[in-house]
Amino acid sequence: MIRTLSYAALSGTLLLSVNASAKDTTTQQYIDTLTELGYPAPKGNELVHIPPTMEDLESAKLHPELKRVIRRGYDLFTNTQQLRGENVFNNMNCSSCHLGEGRMPFSAPVWPAAVTLPNFRGKNDHVNNLEERIAGCFTYSMNGKPPEYGSDNMLAISAYHQWLAKGVAMYPEQPIYGRGFPAPDRPEELSYARGEAAFEEKCSVCHGNYGEGLRVGSETVFPATWGDMSNNWGAGIVRIFTAAGFIKNNMPLGQPNSLSDQESWDIAYYMSNQERPQDPRYTGDVAETLKNTEARFHKHSMYGQTRETDGHVLGDHRNTGEKPFLKPDSIRSRTFE
Ligand code: HEC
Ligand code: HEC
Repeated sequence: MIRTLSYAALSGTLLLSVNASAKDTTTQQYIDTLTELGYPAPKGNELVHIPPTMEDLESAKLHPELKRVIRRGYDLFTNTQQLRGENVFNNMNCSSCHLGEGRMPFSAPVWPAAVTLPNFRGKNDHVNNLEERIAGCFTYSMNGKPPEYGSDNMLAISAYHQWLAKGVAMYPEQPIYGRGFPAPDRPEELSYARGEAAFEEKCSVCHGNYGEGLRVGSETVFPATWGDMSNNWGAGIVRIFTAAGFIKNNMPLGQPNSLSDQESWDIAYYMSNQERPQDPRYTGDVAETLKNTEARFHKHSMYGQTRETDGHVLGDHRNTGEKPFLKPDSIRSRTFE
């Protein structure tokens, strides 16, 4: 209960940003709350940043029109379903995986992208900027098509990311505290059966027995963990270690760090053995697609592997879910020549 309460507090008052004099105490309180919830304290020189909230935005000295655009970005981030059928073809919102409206540490807070990009990205082998990073999550995690570069929606979403990074210097040299979904150490062996049982016991009450989640009208109450309404095979969370990190740090909702490392990995392994829409880089042949993408991406997923329970080859299908195309045009290589 205490866990749940302080977890709720994290997305409220404690996330308020502060003036310099009160900063040390507030940062300490922020870290104390996180460690009480079972997260590790920052190591050595890690950069701790408390992203500003939408209340802070109201009192910030920014042009009213800029505030309006940041609010629009926030609205798109937390209710991405308003772009359903245009840019989003599954039941996800950005905030389905980036908890606390993209501010929560250990839940891939999104502001680091605003201060570390442009940079080279191994996944697509070229230099990416913030818009292209956001586009990546639209293409794979939302099983969709990113808003056009430079469009109003893309600009608004980028502005929200940059607002969350307020005060952080560009290209910080320190490692960033709570970035990504850090995974616990991988246990010796993973079990499909144990993962399935644990999912049924601790997750299916919200996500359903078939990972289908719960949708009411045009609103996602609980997102789908696999299947047509979930992310596709190209999304970062299909890597077993990323899923294990997400689960350990964030699920069951409101009870972070309550699962053992073994449970988190077993559930991640079970989830990774379920079907989802095709990877947009699919060539028409799963073995060939795996060959093209394995080194940079699928080394840590089950894509193209045989499921031990029934011999099914994962990803061996043409199903793109609700999306009427495989690969959005915006996904292209760049040479800067
Ligand atoms: C299905 C889960 C999921 C959804 C939905 C999702 N993302 Fe992500 N996102 C991830 C994962 C996984 C990563 C990579 C984290 C890591 O580095 O380990 C990531 C990373 C990012 C980053 C980079 C963060 C950094 O540390 O540099 C940004 C920015 C981002 N996402 C934005 C978005 C936006 C905008 C949306 C909605 C359009 C979105 N994401 C939807 C899973 C998701
Ligand atoms: C009390 C309901 C609840 C329980 C129990 C729960 N989740 Fe979630 N889960 C959510 C909600 C809600 C979100 C989306 C976050 C948001 O919208 O704030 C989510 C998001 C997710 C996501 C990222 C989005 C997606 O659908 O892929 C995964 C993966 C996930 N949960 C896995 C699990 C696992 C594994 C368990 C069991 C250990 C679990 N959840 C237990 C409510 C729950």
